[in-house]
Amino acid sequence: MKKILVLYYSRTGNTGKMAEVVAEGARAVHGVDVEVKYYATPKELADFDAVVVGVPTYHHDMTIDMKKLFEEATVKNIILKDKVGAAFGSYGWSGEAPQLALEIMKNKFGMDIIESPLLIKYAPDQDGLGKCRQFGKEIAKRLMA
Ligand SMILES: Cc1cc2nc3c(=O)[nH]c(=O)nc-3n(C[C@H](O)[C@H](O)[C@H](O)COP(=O)(O)O)c2cc1C
Repeated sequence: MKKILVLYYSRTGNTGKMAEVVAEGARAVHGVDVEVKYYATPKELADFDAVVVGVPTYHHDMTIDMKKLFEEATVKNIILKDKVGAAFGSYGWSGEAPQLALEIMKNKFGMDIIESPLLIKYAPDQDGLGKCRQFGKEIAKRLMA
C-alpha cells in the first residue's frame, strides 16, 4: 500500500472542502491509503510516499503554519527526497500560496513535484470539486506508476 498525506490549512473552510475531495479522488485508485490531516509534525511527513499540501493564499503568501512546518522539517533534517509532492488551495484574486509551497518542496526537499498546483477561486462549486477529484486521482496514479 502506498501512503498519501493530504495536509491542509483552511481558515474559512474552502481549502478544507477541496482537501476532502482531493483525498476522495486519490482513494478511487487501487492500492493507495490516503490520510487527511489538519496538522502534522515534520517527522510524520517522512511516513508517506506522497505529500499533498492544501494552502489558501492570505496576504500573497502561504499561511504561517505551513511555513513553520517546512522550517521545522529543515531544522530536523527530515528527508523527503523523491517523494511525490503536489499542492492546491483556494484563493481570492492572486493565489500564490500553492506555487510557493511547491517551490520549497522541489528546491529545498528535492521532491518529485506534480507541476501546476490546483487553484480554486473561493468556495469550490461542482465544477471545482470535479477538478479536485481528478487532481487527487492523478496524484495517486503518478504514485502507482
Ligand atoms: C485578510 C485576507 C487576506 C487575503 N489575501 C489574499 C491574497 O493576497 N491573495 C488571494 O488570492 N486571496 C486572498 N484572500 C482570499 C482568500 O484566499 C480566500 O478567501 C480563500 O477562499 C480562503 O481560503 P480558506 O477558506 O481555505 O481559508 C485573502 C482573504 C483575507 C480574509
